[in-house]
Amino acid sequence: MKIGNREVDLEYWFTLLTFNMTTRLVASDRCVRDEDAGTELGKRFVEGLKEKFLRSSPSNLCDYVPILRWIDYGRVKKSMVILQKKRDEFLQGLIDQKARTEIDNQVGHRCLLDDSNLSKLPFLQCVINETLRLSSPVPLLLPHYSSEDCIVGGFEVPRGTTLLVNALGLHRDPKVWEEPDKFKPERFEGGREGFKFVPFGIGRRACPGANMGVRAISLALGLLIQCFELEQVREKKSLIIDSKPPLKAEALEVVCIPRKNALELLSQFQN
Ligand code: HEM
Repeated sequence: MKIGNREVDLEYWFTLLTFNMTTRLVASDRCVRDEDAGTELGKRFVEGLKEKFLRSSPSNLCDYVPILRWIDYGRVKKSMVILQKKRDEFLQGLIDQKARTEIDNQVGHRCLLDDSNLSKLPFLQCVINETLRLSSPVPLLLPHYSSEDCIVGGFEVPRGTTLLVNALGLHRDPKVWEEPDKFKPERFEGGREGFKFVPFGIGRRACPGANMGVRAISLALGLLIQCFELEQVREKKSLIIDSKPPLKAEALEVVCIPRKNALELLSQFQN
C-alpha cells in the first residue's frame, strides 16, 4: 500500500500492532517503543517475535507414525525445546519489565521512590519474595533446641536436641512448589504462602528484623529499577544458585545505564 508516494508495509505494522496490544495487556507496555517502530531495530524485533510465536506448525510425521518419535525424526522435538527456551526468555523479560512498569506508574520520575511508596508496589514485593525463596540468605535458619520431648514429622525428638530447619530445601521442594527452580515472582501474587515460605523463620524465635530487612531491600532494589537499565557485561549467567549442594552463587557483573527519565533526578546527587 502507498500513502502519498511512500510505500507502507501493512503486514509489518499490523503484526506490530498485534504484538504491542498483547504485551500491553500482559505487561502494561509496548514490546516495540514508538521511536523504534518502523526502524531496522523495530523490524528485526518483530521478525524475532514472529519466529518465536507465529511459527506455522510444520506437518510432523511423528504425529502419524509414532514410532518415529524414538529417533526424533525431523528433529522436531529438539527444535521445539529450543523454541520453548527462547519463548521463556522473552516472557521472563516481560516479567522483569512488570516491576519497572509498576514503579513508573505508582512513583513516576519526579521524585525518588521512598518508604511511603512501598505499599503500592506489590509486584516488587513478589520479586523480593521469589529471590528470598530461591536464594535464602539463611538456608538452615539458626539452630533450635527442643525444650521438651516432641514428635516432628513422625520422628521422636528427645528434649535437648539441636534442630536444624532446611528452609532452602523447603523453598525448592517440588512437592510444595510448582516448577521450584524457576524464577516466577507472580507465584506470590495475592496469596499467603504459610509455612512453606520461611526465609525469616517462623514463630517466637523468627527474625525480629524481617520488616526492616524487607524494607531495606525494597528501597535499594526499587531505586535501582527506577533509575537504571542494567546490562550484563558477559554472556547471560543466571543469578539463581544451583539447587544442589554445594550452593554457589556466581557474581553478576552489570553496567548501570541511567534511564533517560531519571537523569534529572540523578543529577541532584552529583558531587
Ligand atoms: C533479609 C534480611 C534478613 C534475613 C533473611 C534474616 C533471616 C533471619 C533468620 C532465618 C533468623 C533465624 C530464625 C529462626 O531460626 O527461626 C534470624 C534471626 C534473627 N535476626 Fe534476622 N534476618 C534479616 C535481617 C535482620 C535484621 C535487619 C535484623 C536486625 C535489625 C535481624 C535480627 C535478627 C535477630 C536478633 C535474630 C535472632 C532472633 C532470636 O533468636 O530470637 N535480622 N534472621
